[in-house]
Amino acid sequence: MPEILERRSLRKKDVLRKILDSTRKYYGAFSDEYVKLYDSWLRSEGAFSDPEYRIGYNNVAKILAGLVEDGHIIVDIGCGVGVWTANMAKSGANVTGLDHSIEALSKQREKSKDENVRSKVFVILGDGFYAPFRDDVFDGATLNWVLSHIPVKENLNFLKEVERILRENAWLMISDSYWRGQEGGKEQVQTRRTNNGTFEVYKYYYTTEEIRNLLKASFCEVVNLETTPYEILCVARK
Ligand SMILES: C[S@@+](CC[C@H](N)C(=O)[O-])C[C@H]1O[C@@H](n2cnc3c(N)ncnc32)[C@H](O)[C@@H]1O
Repeated sequence: MPEILERRSLRKKDVLRKILDSTRKYYGAFSDEYVKLYDSWLRSEGAFSDPEYRIGYNNVAKILAGLVEDGHIIVDIGCGVGVWTANMAKSGANVTGLDHSIEALSKQREKSKDENVRSKVFVILGDGFYAPFRDDVFDGATLNWVLSHIPVKENLNFLKEVERILRENAWLMISDSYWRGQEGGKEQVQTRRTNNGTFEVYKYYYTTEEIRNLLKASFCEVVNLETTPYEILCVARK
């Protein structure tokens, strides 16, 4: 699990851009550990020996298996170390992984090579707010544990950019942590430790109603919205 040393509410005097830049650097510094975290999750080891976590992984895999079709063109926004990028490519999709952390993307390339899907996976270093694609091109998009790192005041613009690049009737899958009264408040700054240093990380915890309203306002029909003990899972269509 990421090591969280402190959680505090976002303060008025905080410079949000600085915290977001630190969040991006955190994902670079944490990328080695993130790969290991997923390995232990898959094997239900260590902190993930709780069967709930194993179920959490299986839930995401199951939802994606029901959405991804052979030949689909998918964008995995905030793809990180590429576990879900590779998973969708293995189902026959052509998947573009977009992330603003170059270190995470280099792990994504390794992952797609290890999973023998290198030819089905593309890598783009960029910011999800300015996706470098034409309108209406993708059959599906994923935001797995990404939305909570997008400043809440800018979330509508972020989702409108996702909407722009999806074709009519395309799907969007969101998974993330959700608001359960976590210490530090809904909008918070976490101090997280990695093997490569300590970073401030922006985090916003959504309720299911907030996600539903956000999706309604941005573009789509919410097809499914559910929570597990630690994760919110949502599927919507343009
Ligand atoms: C919690 S990780 C999730 C990674 C991956 N989706 C997964 O489920 O394993 C969040 C990822 O989103 C990326 N990210 C956050 N904000 C972003 C933005 N505005 N543009 C591109 N990537 C972003 C981070 O760099 C990080 O790799």
